[in-house]
Amino acid sequence: MKPTRVAAAFFAAVAIRALAADVVPLKNAGPYVPSPDAAVAAMLQYAHVGPNDFLIDLGSGDGRIVRTAAKVFGARGMGVEIKESLVRQANEEAKKEGIADKVRFVKQDLFKTDISQATVLTMYLLPDTVNMLREKLATELKPGTRIVSHDYPLTGWLPDDMKQFDLPEKEAISGVQTTIVWLYVVPAKVEGDWSARLPASLSRAPATLRLRQQLTRVSGSVVLDGKEIPLEDVRLRGEELAFRIAGRKPLFTGQVKGRSIEGTMESGANKTAWTASLGS
Ligand SMILES: C[S@@+](CC[C@H](N)C(=O)[O-])C[C@H]1O[C@@H](n2cnc3c(N)ncnc32)[C@H](O)[C@@H]1O
Repeated sequence: MKPTRVAAAFFAAVAIRALAADVVPLKNAGPYVPSPDAAVAAMLQYAHVGPNDFLIDLGSGDGRIVRTAAKVFGARGMGVEIKESLVRQANEEAKKEGIADKVRFVKQDLFKTDISQATVLTMYLLPDTVNMLREKLATELKPGTRIVSHDYPLTGWLPDDMKQFDLPEKEAISGVQTTIVWLYVVPAKVEGDWSARLPASLSRAPATLRLRQQLTRVSGSVVLDGKEIPLEDVRLRGEELAFRIAGRKPLFTGQVKGRSIEGTMESGANKTAWTASLGS
């Protein structure tokens, strides 16, 4: 064989081996484009990452989000990535930075990753992939987990917050400098009829709190002394529920813990306790 053909065959074999080493995912969620440092900082600050957090980055590239979370904010974490070379690079960087006991990077398809351990989940993925993940995020993550998405929103989820700023280095990546960080807090599951004990000033009889839920959107009514009254200003952020009963001033807040809610009704300076339990 001519030397040029030998070289071509050699490089083809290397390329095939490199491809075989990468994971073949259910779907390729996007090419490797690292988040600029300023975007990483904004994502982590915005999610209030701290030492008690376990952060998972879906499609972790060189691991910069997880590594920064560990180095700057003391968090632990994991990154999943399909490209073998990037997984190796991220683990080597973590070793050099002395944070290998806090973070790990694994070669894995993000769609098949168990994400239930996360208290913060980050992603910088193509918009259709972000939306393919909606169901997985809603069912596998614990209520209260913060989700931060770089640039692309989760359609149908109401963001708890968003921050928009310009980064000149984004021009080469997406053609515009605009960078958006979307923050979501995984909502508790509140759909159903809750048997409620409201303050005696409202009713001495047990009331029924009827809540309807579509992810982060909650609406409902309360059945009080046989009369159904709509709820207003209903908000659910993680496990924190708040609402008013239409036509009445007091603000109800409560913490949802599985099948029970414990809260207070605030009327001026007065605070009175209320409770509810699901289905009983
Ligand atoms: C835009 S880059 C983001 C890298 C990093 N998260 C950051 O923000 O700097 C997306 C990464 O996801 C990886 N990726 C694509 N599809 C994936 C999949 N199904 N499972 C795991 N990683 C995937 C790509 O190889 C790429 O490194």
